[in-house]
Amino acid sequence: MKMKRIFAAVASLVMLGAFTACGSDSSTSSTDSNSNSNANNSNSDSNNSNDTNDTNDNSDSNTDSGSADGKTVGIAMPTKSLERWNRDGEYLKDQFESAGYKVELKYSDNDTNQQNNDIQGMIADKVDLLLIAAIDGSTLSQTLSDAKDAGIPVIAYDRLIMNTDAVSYYVSFDNYTVGKLQGEYVIDALDLENSDGPYNIEFTAGDPADNNAGYFFNGAYDAVKEYIDAGKLKIPSGKKTFEQVATEAWSTDKALENMQNTLASYYSDGTQLDVALCSNDSTALGVAQAISSDYNGKNAPIVTGQDGDIANLKNIVDGKQSMTVYKNVNDEAGVTLEVSKAILSGQTPDAGLVSSLSAEATYDTESYNNGVKVVPSYLLVPYVITNENLDLLVDTGLYKWDSSNKYLESTASTT
Ligand code: BGC
Repeated sequence: MKMKRIFAAVASLVMLGAFTACGSDSSTSSTDSNSNSNANNSNSDSNNSNDTNDTNDNSDSNTDSGSADGKTVGIAMPTKSLERWNRDGEYLKDQFESAGYKVELKYSDNDTNQQNNDIQGMIADKVDLLLIAAIDGSTLSQTLSDAKDAGIPVIAYDRLIMNTDAVSYYVSFDNYTVGKLQGEYVIDALDLENSDGPYNIEFTAGDPADNNAGYFFNGAYDAVKEYIDAGKLKIPSGKKTFEQVATEAWSTDKALENMQNTLASYYSDGTQLDVALCSNDSTALGVAQAISSDYNGKNAPIVTGQDGDIANLKNIVDGKQSMTVYKNVNDEAGVTLEVSKAILSGQTPDAGLVSSLSAEATYDTESYNNGVKVVPSYLLVPYVITNENLDLLVDTGLYKWDSSNKYLESTASTT
């Protein structure tokens, strides 16, 4: 295979200085640290100690509250078992607390009932604002209607929340572009403009319950479609719709199993797999595992990903994954804080906020229709990381080289 190793840093890094970062190993359990020692915390007694999946540390009582004015922000994250949400939870908590807010942070173990209960708990606690990364974007309508009745504004964090008018804003990355960058990477790496191929490609997409997953898949598929149509890229399995290649809960194990089945059914006669286009790192991890047992290090296919998870960055160094689309979630947390501040001080954030944001973002009032309304969106910029530009991650302050100087590790406080 003619491989032209390329990398494209499509956006400059916007650094927020030396933040604590994280990169937890997957774990569905979490600590329950309810130290609500902030004297201003009106919700100090309202967090049940039997709530096993939350981290609720409102101990930042020395911070200057300033305009935060004793306000509490409720943050609902999907799960600790997918690496990135540990980072999101930590960065959001750090940044809001540093700005003087109190924080109630819940992880809901990828269980939609639990997430509804967790959010109901925060509504009962009278939080002033809700930030929600939905497990299933379509299951929160009733709960959010209760939030609306209680006058609590809601920001959909990273994943759009569907079928409700109770969402005020959406803060995320340009999700379609994430997939597009993966597709463009494949086009460049195989030099598809100049080569006839044909090369064999298989797709692995994300969780159908996550509204982002379709955007990632479509962005990638649309990018390579002309080469599929021209016969330069072939899909031996014939699986080319999102539904056919979706991976429930973004599960590594499921992605591994699906790829093993695909290899056994369509490649056992020696057909070469050239590209495994995976929507994110948790799925790429499983796919790379299926491939490495099958390919035994020879003619390793291109494997794409997204997120910059530590295990995947190791695979990139080891040649088992080719690239990841990086989304600086510390920047995402920073933009979310700035949008939240504006809302909590009675403003209606709009395009005017963009120029004062701490990270590059666009304001979009067209793309994200949740079935009831078009949700105004602040969309940050993703970029490509390969083995050649890993130092860009170090530059963020969120990663560092390990003692062997070979692999990256997180500068996180969460493990
Ligand atoms: C996020 C991705 C992540 C995936 C699984 C998506 O909603 O945007 O960054 O890889 O969920 O956690």
